[in-house]
Amino acid sequence: MLVLENVSELLTMDPTPVAGALPRGEALLAGIPKAAVLIDDERIVWLGPESERPAIPAGAAQVIDCHAGVVTPGWVECHSHVIYGGDRAADFDRRSRGLSYEQITAEGGGIQTTVDATRGASLDALVAAALPRIERLERHGATLIEIKSGYGLELAAELRMLEAIRRLDALVSADLVATFLGAHLVPREYRGDRDGYLSLVIEEMLPVVAERGLAEFVDVFCEEGAFSIEESRRVLEAARALGLKTKVHAEQLTSSGATAMACALGATSVDHLDHINADDIALLAASSTVPVALPGATLFLGKSSYPPGRALADAGKVPALSTDYNPGSAHTANLPLMTTLACTNMGLSPAEALYGVTRAAAAALDRSDRAGLLRVGGPADLVLFDLPSYTHIPYDFGGNPVKRVMKGGQGIV
Ligand code: NIG
Ligand code: FE
Repeated sequence: MLVLENVSELLTMDPTPVAGALPRGEALLAGIPKAAVLIDDERIVWLGPESERPAIPAGAAQVIDCHAGVVTPGWVECHSHVIYGGDRAADFDRRSRGLSYEQITAEGGGIQTTVDATRGASLDALVAAALPRIERLERHGATLIEIKSGYGLELAAELRMLEAIRRLDALVSADLVATFLGAHLVPREYRGDRDGYLSLVIEEMLPVVAERGLAEFVDVFCEEGAFSIEESRRVLEAARALGLKTKVHAEQLTSSGATAMACALGATSVDHLDHINADDIALLAASSTVPVALPGATLFLGKSSYPPGRALADAGKVPALSTDYNPGSAHTANLPLMTTLACTNMGLSPAEALYGVTRAAAAALDRSDRAGLLRVGGPADLVLFDLPSYTHIPYDFGGNPVKRVMKGGQGIV
């Protein structure tokens, strides 16, 4: 038995829904002041106010004093691209001198540069390069991490990326979720034959990925310069027919109708959303699709088009938040920084931002019953902060406020 005591605020992220809708404001957190948690065999066996804690015989438990700090559920990184070869520091340098991300992509750089480096990397090399990136996410609170393929764009290299995720899952403490992103870009050798590449993705890659159980989700980069609405729909429908769940990179750089298409297809999440409009927000509110905001990408690309977090939350859909950790558009593992950006640039409150990196992000991975919340019987995945109250998490900006991370009751950070 393990006891966490002297917790100033225990954020369970498990509010009782009022007539199906989420409560507003701080009630989202379902916080318990002056709390304690009892853990046995990787699970939470009790949580509540310290004053009501069941008596435990002396010596029967290991006690961790949280020094009047805050405890949250393990954080969820629901959108990352951490498997890749090489880096894009040279792109960053060019962007700093005025070239845009879109121009670099159109000139055959950007994602294609990472594709070249990833195709040239062995399975061992991909695993070795990704391991410290995942550990960096863990140090920033993540106990559940989604990782996409999409830098192979040919059968063997896409499978190698997914195989790397499988190997890493056995090496790291966090749980990993794999997403197949074969439709990330039309690779150089198919530039004159888009349909040929789509057939490769739909007829050759998807069936192998599904048959080998290498991915739970299929994602598409639906954007000018990547895949059109119609092309994206073809990939997503094929994925669904194979029993795979879907996600869409939607309206990151332009407004396109991708959100409406994804909602109509029952996608689990739509991600980025920098350019969605009021109609898209209404559609999202009426659907089961989870909006995912990636403000680190907006920041790192030097744009001002942050996703409309306030309008989404007002419509009853507090967006999930993640880093989008990748070599081109968001080279960071700093999940807490995303909560700051959500407050300063998306109009979310600290409470909503913290819900976004936990329970909402778990919903974006179809795990809202299992992750991103603290509940008796659930896994003891927790993050401890040496801070007096939860508002200090986004307020403590730019560094890493995480003090300790536990996965299944074991300290991992
Ligand atoms: O989420 N938008 C497409 N994919 C990534 C960027 C990938 C890259 O630039 O390497 C994103 O921003
Ligand atoms: Fe992405």
